Amino acid sequence: MAMERTLVLFKPDAVQRGLLGRILTRFEDKGLKVIGLKMRQFERGLLEQHYAVHRERPFYPNLVAYMGSGPVVALALEGKGAIEVVRKLMGKTNSAQAEPGTIRGDFGMSFSNNLVHGSDSPEAAARELALFFPAPGELVTWTPANLGWVYSVKEELS
Ligand code: RTP
Ligand code: MG
Repeated sequence: MAMERTLVLFKPDAVQRGLLGRILTRFEDKGLKVIGLKMRQFERGLLEQHYAVHRERPFYPNLVAYMGSGPVVALALEGKGAIEVVRKLMGKTNSAQAEPGTIRGDFGMSFSNNLVHGSDSPEAAARELALFFPAPGELVTWTPANLGWVYSVKEELS
């Protein structure tokens, strides 16, 4: 499995409900490395681009309005197979059906207000990271002190 980078968004409901810390802890506890973090009320154009794949879907206008309705936190994470790992931690799109133990399963009830976004493919991750962290240096290269304990470095990172 390759070392990957992925984009997570804490949606407005996660911010308004005071869940930022608990959700971020899930990702840190798993061993994912934080390489970028920012809070903004993002402009409509950027949110439309981010969800452009859903442009023709009936829920698209509400989705863009919801994502622009308050502050959002954008988080860039790195780890082996990080894209799939993050999607598993998030759980199913409909929070009411998401498994207990997942973020949506533990914290939510709604299909639309489902707390978090995670990139769903390497192509989406590259596109979305460039949208939310466009400036040089916004993603930080660093080595966690515990790297050799999170991974068996010789076998997994060589
Ligand atoms: P995301 O893109 O935000 O990570 O979520 P996802 O992959 O699990 O779900 P996706 O199918 O990509 O849908 C994007 C977001 O649109 C809202 N949605 N509402 N009410 C509805 O029928 C409906 N369907 C989708 C959700 O906020 C979903 O996360
Ligand atoms: Mg999606």
